[in-house]
Amino acid sequence: MSRAHKTLCFHMLYNEMKKKISPKNLGYMGSTPGNRNSNTWFTPPEWIDRCRKVMGTIDLDPFSSSDANKIVQATQFFTEDDDALVQTWTGPNVFMNPPYGVGIFKSACLKFLEQWHLKHFEQAIVLINNCTETISFQAIAKECSAMCLVNKRIVFYSTDGKPSVGNTRGQVFIYYGLNVGKFKEEFEDAGIILSPV
Ligand SMILES: C[S@@+](CC[C@H](N)C(=O)[O-])C[C@H]1O[C@@H](n2cnc3c(N)ncnc32)[C@H](O)[C@@H]1O
Repeated sequence: MSRAHKTLCFHMLYNEMKKKISPKNLGYMGSTPGNRNSNTWFTPPEWIDRCRKVMGTIDLDPFSSSDANKIVQATQFFTEDDDALVQTWTGPNVFMNPPYGVGIFKSACLKFLEQWHLKHFEQAIVLINNCTETISFQAIAKECSAMCLVNKRIVFYSTDGKPSVGNTRGQVFIYYGLNVGKFKEEFEDAGIILSPV
């Protein structure tokens, strides 16, 4: 499929998503039972290390904070005050672990796809829950180069630096870029590696 055709398909999908996405059909995302606040869960360093080894650098973490970036150490990051949704994302390499609340999660996935189609970055790794039935997951996984279905639940860090409790979901790392071999090398001990056909 040509790049132009892909872009057309993306815009059709984008319009469909805007019509269809609602808290109801996004399932559990954002319902945050108990005291879970997965909007601000931080990624443990061992997973960041794998991502950096695949891409070489992490030039942008679009959804972050100064505390989170002590671990991610992205060259550039956006905070809630900057609002990644209104920014231009420049790579070449992006790591995205978006806030999981319903509205922001959907918008983050759409923004990611928009910036990818605009060729604003060359590689990316997206870390999200493995909620394969949702429109957002389907959209962001559909065009990826490869993904790793992680064989355990990630223990994220809370804002107080302690391991988070109550992660009731599994995770997936979704890779966009040309270094699929490197992604496989770094992630194959962490779960099943798949590529869309
Ligand atoms: C799930 S945490 C991930 C943090 C970090 N990227 C990591 O993986 O450790 C999501 C982060 O996005 C921030 N955030 C929320 N809304 C945002 C927005 N509109 N623009 C940029 N960052 C935002 C939150 O404050 C939080 O630090």
